[in-house]
Amino acid sequence: MLGSPTGSSIKLNVFAPDQAGTVWLVYGTRSGQLGTQTPARALVAGQPLEIALEGLAPNTRHYYRLYFQPSSGTAGAPGDEASFMTARPPGSSFTFALQGDSHPERLRSQFDPDLYTRTLLTAAADQPDFYVLMGDDFSVDTLDPLTITQPKVLERYTLQRPYLGLIGKQAPLFLVNGNHEQAAGYLLDGTPNNVAVWAQNARNSLYAQPAPDGFYSGNPTPVPHIGLLRNYFAWSWGDALFVVIDPYWHSPVAVDNVLGDGTKRSNLWDVTHGDAQYQWLKRTLEGSTARYKFVFAHHVMGTGRGGVELAKLWEWGGESAGGQFDFPVKRPNWTEPLHRLMARTGVTIFFQGHDHIWVRQKLDGVTYQTVSEPADPNYTLWNADAFQSGDKFPNSGYTRVRVAPEGVQVDYVRSLLQRDESATRVHGSTVFSYRLP
Ligand SMILES: [Fe+2]
Ligand SMILES: [Fe+2]
Repeated sequence: MLGSPTGSSIKLNVFAPDQAGTVWLVYGTRSGQLGTQTPARALVAGQPLEIALEGLAPNTRHYYRLYFQPSSGTAGAPGDEASFMTARPPGSSFTFALQGDSHPERLRSQFDPDLYTRTLLTAAADQPDFYVLMGDDFSVDTLDPLTITQPKVLERYTLQRPYLGLIGKQAPLFLVNGNHEQAAGYLLDGTPNNVAVWAQNARNSLYAQPAPDGFYSGNPTPVPHIGLLRNYFAWSWGDALFVVIDPYWHSPVAVDNVLGDGTKRSNLWDVTHGDAQYQWLKRTLEGSTARYKFVFAHHVMGTGRGGVELAKLWEWGGESAGGQFDFPVKRPNWTEPLHRLMARTGVTIFFQGHDHIWVRQKLDGVTYQTVSEPADPNYTLWNADAFQSGDKFPNSGYTRVRVAPEGVQVDYVRSLLQRDESATRVHGSTVFSYRLP
């Protein structure tokens, strides 16, 4: 599983649930001519291993194979050759892709393993430079709070590895925190034994998420028993700025569903992205001269239903439920609500998941793009009533974005099980497409 690509490096996370041995990589910049070998590293069953490749050439496709030598003594065999891109300079054309809530715990109702596989393989065939998961991919809140343990939380993360490896071996993965992940500060209790610590450590140990460095900016504040959260971050790639934000970690109260069905917060002004994340986001958006700016979050405010319908409320828009503009009183240290900040700084698209439907909307020049689930075998149009405007399409599929100096093209690519295909419903076909600006 690849992660955290830069202009000169990438991380590869290797994991085997029940095999031990040694692993190494061979890599190079020409297919079939993999001249560089990494030192052999010990792989322990059930323990993720992170291998960093450094000193890579920027704007270059690199090819690699992973070798595994089992400690049982049988001969090692190389894996298939795969490839990835290092960071693109301004003026480049490239593709990235994203998926909404995969919800593997909702078997049959919203998740089908074969359909997920088809979606991921089809997305991988586009050779996206990276793949963004919009959250609700590792839901732990359906586990019994009385018997929940660190291994049970970790299992939600290892369960995704065989699926996400289909694309993650060639496209670095970026995780966006979802409401069902329960990677959220309200669950911290000062010990290492709570769901917030277990969830965040599972995220960071199995999926190499970026920490602030010369290439990424992000959350610089370590949390006891975790270290750097790696939960919000930004980077530049080609002519675009990419910004991932997290509505859940920094709120002192649960933003959406509560682990163990506890009492839901009553006032959404109690919910916050936090001052530090806000100031970082403001600096990041204001400081970028990128032609395109893409912001990713699980949802507007991390809760509710709809897109632009919610954009005037609370931290996002400044109004209380009654319609009065209470922002200056409720957030005296913030200069403007999040939507205004995005509109003023020229954000091209705000991407969200959570609603399990594909909807394109626009407000004050900012496109609000809600993305579908990748593997819903019932192809449902969830929550359509919450969206009073826009182009709406049902599950399932992924979203492909082509970025070029002359414009951005967004495609909703349909996924179907073979049994559901027909002459007019073809897996991998584009359902809807638009261009910006
Ligand atoms: Fe959600
Ligand atoms: Fe969801």
